[in-house]
Amino acid sequence: MLHKNLTINEKGVLCIAEQDTVELVQKYGTPLMVMDEARIRRNFSVYKNAMEKYFGQGSYPLFASKAFSCKYIYRIAKEENVGIDLVSSGELYTALSAGFDVSNAFLHGNNKTDADIEYAIESGVGHFVADNLTEIDMIDEVAKKHGKVQPIILRLSPGIDPHTHAAITTGQVDSKFGIAIETGQADDAVEYTLNKKNLRLDGFHCHIGSQIFDIKPFCDAGKLMIEYVTHVKQKFGYVTEILNLGGGFGVRYIQSQPELNYEDFIRLIASYINEEVKRSGIKKPRIIMEPGRSIVADSALTLYTVGGTKEIPGFKNYVSIDGGMPDNPRYALYQADYTVCLASRMNDKADFTCTVAGRCCESGDLIQEDVTIPKPYRGDILAVLVTGAYNYSMASNYNRIPRPAVVAIKDGKVFEVIRRETFADLIKNDL
Ligand code: LLP
Repeated sequence: MLHKNLTINEKGVLCIAEQDTVELVQKYGTPLMVMDEARIRRNFSVYKNAMEKYFGQGSYPLFASKAFSCKYIYRIAKEENVGIDLVSSGELYTALSAGFDVSNAFLHGNNKTDADIEYAIESGVGHFVADNLTEIDMIDEVAKKHGKVQPIILRLSPGIDPHTHAAITTGQVDSKFGIAIETGQADDAVEYTLNKKNLRLDGFHCHIGSQIFDIKPFCDAGKLMIEYVTHVKQKFGYVTEILNLGGGFGVRYIQSQPELNYEDFIRLIASYINEEVKRSGIKKPRIIMEPGRSIVADSALTLYTVGGTKEIPGFKNYVSIDGGMPDNPRYALYQADYTVCLASRMNDKADFTCTVAGRCCESGDLIQEDVTIPKPYRGDILAVLVTGAYNYSMASNYNRIPRPAVVAIKDGKVFEVIRRETFADLIKNDL
């Protein structure tokens, strides 16, 4: 199977963390997202151990919580002693509600509103990742009002092309994110920030993109950022304390993609960084990384009930499910790859090639095209694998479809972590 936590039992049913998916559906209904907590914790451990081992003490991961934000995941992050990357006041509110200590949080965003800045400073967010000069002014002003000196780091665009889907590329010079090194604007921002009385510049950030399988762009970005750290030491005498390299490691969604060894990736990036630090003689900054997808994606799958199957002779076959783009918009947005299986009959012959369609009133509401599975009948359970990242967090109520329930499995026990939305939830803000 695609990942080790997936197996098939004696009834021919797909299991995740040894739980029979058909039994889970009987208890919790569909669509249902099921998470394997051990996998999440294992993924955190890989990053924590490798980063400390290869980058040295004080280096650690932040969970990029845009990948999956809810109280449950912030509680795990707290227990695992990792930091978090936040991108909105909504994520901050959720983390605070889960009892997460936000002095260990970095607040991102290319347009933090005045209200976001107020709320984050009041709540004691550890670091802001500043994206532009007007924001720097505002953070300084609000920090002054609160009698604080706010630690910040600057988001820089290193001008690296990571060769991934254009919609999830972020580090190039013309990006909406960050301040370009190449144009000299990064230097201006450093000087600007160093002159602010209520800001403490702790370092720099870059993030080149997401779902990247190639190690080279990460090594290039790491090297380039160390060169920049060296440059600002020479130009301004400024010593960088923190270098945040963002997230972006690829995850295996389908059989033909590799399962990356993240420890190896971190070791290689560290060897570039350590060499460059040695060469330039600068003080080595603490390295931070912000994995999102590679922490949660392979911990989960989504279960659906099959409705109609439509065969159009000479054209194609459709299998319709009771979810779709409202709970997983990634195929509609990025033509994202997914593995689809007939969870209720895993050992039957797979000889039916079909397109899996969601239930929305929209032709683009597809989960995957041209997958080959056993021919499904109404009531069969269909599983879409590796749905832990950017599925629930990007879910919507399009067509007034309630968001699914999310359950987690821990030590053989299953419990709800997000309850299924009700129709009453759908109208709760309607006046
Ligand atoms: N740090 C920053 C500043 C980011 O913008 C992101 C992702 C991450 C870290 C985490 O990257 P990861 O390790 O998850 O690749 N919705 C898209 C992905 C958008 C990623 C946005 N930023 C998708 O479904 O593929």
